[in-house]
Amino acid sequence: MIVVRPTTPDDQCWTSDTLRLGRGSTTVARLDVPVDAAVLPGFVAELGVRRAGLVTYVVGTDGVETVTLQSLARGQGVGRALFDRVHKMVLELRAPRLWLITANDNLLAIGFHQRWGMDLVRLVHNGVKRSPRAKPSIPGVAGNGIPSRHELEFDLALTVP
Ligand SMILES: CC(C)(COP(=O)(O)OP(=O)(O)OC[C@H]1O[C@@H](n2cnc3c(N)ncnc32)[C@H](O)[C@@H]1OP(=O)(O)O)[C@@H](O)C(=O)NCCC(=O)NCCS
Repeated sequence: MIVVRPTTPDDQCWTSDTLRLGRGSTTVARLDVPVDAAVLPGFVAELGVRRAGLVTYVVGTDGVETVTLQSLARGQGVGRALFDRVHKMVLELRAPRLWLITANDNLLAIGFHQRWGMDLVRLVHNGVKRSPRAKPSIPGVAGNGIPSRHELEFDLALTVP
């Protein structure tokens, strides 16, 4: 069974290690400003006794952005459970939208988010190259052979009564 809970100070070392292993760094450029994702609020997915996934987010006036999402147990519902939990929080906060940025080479994320229900709302051509989101840790060509060049923005607009 997957249990999702907010991150706590006890998760700090694991969070930093997980971000570094999965992304090469804990730093993510958000709205062109580098932020340390390791200190952002987040949720951890636990599968049995082990931590199996992490999502970090930022709550802004324009809605909630998921900054990082990582599953350490792919294809078992961890990613969905984490995203469902963020969505629940977005509804509780009555935030206007849930959104995220990914790159054109991230086919897993592009498929996952669309199947979940997110909509592709913007493409920034060559955005990965231009943006400080293009961290030194992001190689020019992804492991799947696709050049990492464009930023894709996905969102779910919510009706706030
Ligand atoms: C994108 C990512 C977070 C998805 O995580 P995940 O844990 O594999 O996601 P899920 O298991 O919830 O869903 C993936 C697939 O497994 C399927 N699945 C879910 N639970 C399942 C189960 N119990 N048994 C079999 N399949 C299952 C889902 O239907 C889904 O299938 P689909 O992709 O064909 O629709 C993961 O691939 C990842 O960490 N990628 C690297 C980091 C990244 O790119 N993050 C996104 C940045 S924007």
